[in-house]
Amino acid sequence: MLLDFTALPPREIYPWLIGTIMPRPIAWVSTISVDGRTNLAPFSFFNGVCARPPTLMFSVANHPDGMKKDTVRNIEAVPEFVVNLVSFALAGQMSATSASLPYGVSEFEQGGITSVPSARVRPPRVAAAPVAFECVLDRIVQIGEGPMAANVVFGRILLAHVSDTVPGSNGRPDPAKLDLIGRLGGDTYTRTRDIFSVERPD
Ligand SMILES: Cc1cc2nc3c(=O)[nH]c(=O)nc-3n(C[C@H](O)[C@H](O)[C@H](O)COP(=O)(O)O)c2cc1C
Repeated sequence: MLLDFTALPPREIYPWLIGTIMPRPIAWVSTISVDGRTNLAPFSFFNGVCARPPTLMFSVANHPDGMKKDTVRNIEAVPEFVVNLVSFALAGQMSATSASLPYGVSEFEQGGITSVPSARVRPPRVAAAPVAFECVLDRIVQIGEGPMAANVVFGRILLAHVSDTVPGSNGRPDPAKLDLIGRLGGDTYTRTRDIFSVERPD
């Protein structure tokens, strides 16, 4: 089977991207509007970038009508955000916040999700998230134009809030304790429970 991505329409390419590039971590991103209204939404085109400077990225596609999503609108206006990580216990609440709500209606309030003020940025963080990264905007890179085109958001991480339950006996994050979920294709997810090691050459 050969899929020619130069010939297929984006709608047919998309399920192959999310159904093969996986499992993907989930950035549960809180932002705020100029007038102080909060927003929370999940993005699984997400990853770390580097430690110097501490940087992460996530990709926000435009709506089918070409409009930018609320997360990008907010970050363009207030260039700060929090990337909350999603444990198994938070899966249902996280998914609920992917609903398209009118601009300015807060998923924190709609979903009954408890927020905590952040230390260095204006958007609040998710209280129950095992890890939350406070970030300022580094840059937004636009890939393509119009419907389904992407705004890749790069964030400079200022601060990480780490739940006391996360570190293992060596003081480093313990994946079993974190119990994060990864997104597969469609509405399916995986848990980080089947863990093994592979030795690396020097
Ligand atoms: C697990 C999960 C992962 C998602 N990943 C992405 C993504 O990487 N990029 C994207 O544009 N939308 C993604 N979505 C859809 C957005 O969350 C959804 O469009 C949301 O309404 C955007 O919210 P906003 O308009 O408040 O920014 C994802 C949804 C879920 C449930």
